[in-house]
Amino acid sequence: MEHLPVFMVRDSLDDVPQFDLPAPFAVRRYRPGDAATWLRIQKASDRYSIFPYEKFAQQFGADDGVLAERQLFLCDGEGREVGTVTAWFADHRGVPHGRIHWVAIVPDMQGRGLAKPMLGAACSRLRELGHPRAFLDSQTMRVPALNLYLKFGFRPDIRHDDDLRAWRLVGPHLKPTYWQWAVACVPELA
Ligand SMILES: CC(C)(COP(=O)(O)OP(=O)(O)OC[C@H]1O[C@@H](n2cnc3c(N)ncnc32)[C@H](O)[C@@H]1OP(=O)(O)O)[C@@H](O)C(=O)NCCC(=O)NCCS
Repeated sequence: MEHLPVFMVRDSLDDVPQFDLPAPFAVRRYRPGDAATWLRIQKASDRYSIFPYEKFAQQFGADDGVLAERQLFLCDGEGREVGTVTAWFADHRGVPHGRIHWVAIVPDMQGRGLAKPMLGAACSRLRELGHPRAFLDSQTMRVPALNLYLKFGFRPDIRHDDDLRAWRLVGPHLKPTYWQWAVACVPELA
C-alpha cells in the first residue's frame, strides 16, 4: 500500500473506552534514562521508521519532568518494558491539543490486547493533564494502529483532498466495523 500520512482527532476525551490490563502487566511512567528504553521498543516494533539515538530528544526534548508526566511504559511480570505511548501535546490546525504520540508494542507481545489498556491509560493521562481533545498522526500502511485508533473513537481528520484519498486507500484494509465508523464521521468517504 502507498505510504500516505493520515491525521485523526478525538474532539472530547470525556468518554474514552478503558480496558483492564491483564496480570502481570503494569504501566509505569518515564524515569531518567528511559530514552534508551523507548528507542529499544521502537526499533523492535516499528519497521517503517528509523530510530537514531538523537530521535528521542528530537521528538520529546530533554525535560525529565515533562516526560515523567507524559510518557508511559507497559511492563511485563519481570518489569521489562514491552510497550510505550506518550501523552504528548502540540498545536493541531492552530489549536492546542493533546497528542497520542509514538504508540508501540514489541512484536512478540502484539495481538494480545495490550495496546488497548495502554492507549486508554494515555488518553486518561491527557485528560488528567487538562487536555479537552486529542489528535494523532499516522500512515496508511499502519492498519493495526488505525483500527486501534478508530476503535478508540478517533475520527479521520480531513484537511484536504489528499486526506480523503489516503483514507479511501486504506478503507478496504480496515476492520469493517471501524471503517463504518470512519464513514459515519466523514460521509464523503462512502
Ligand atoms: C499498533 C500496535 C501498537 C497495536 O498493538 P497490539 O498490542 O497488537 O494491539 P491489541 O492487541 O491491543 O489490539 C488493539 C486493536 O488493534 C487492532 N489490531 C491489532 N492487531 C491487528 C492486526 N494484526 N490487524 C488488524 N488490526 C489489528 C484491532 O482493532 C485491535 O482491537 P480489536 O481486536 O478489539 O478490534 C502494534 O501493532 C505496533 O506496535 N505496531 C508497530 C508500531 C506502529 O505502527 N505504531 C503506530 C504508530 S502511529
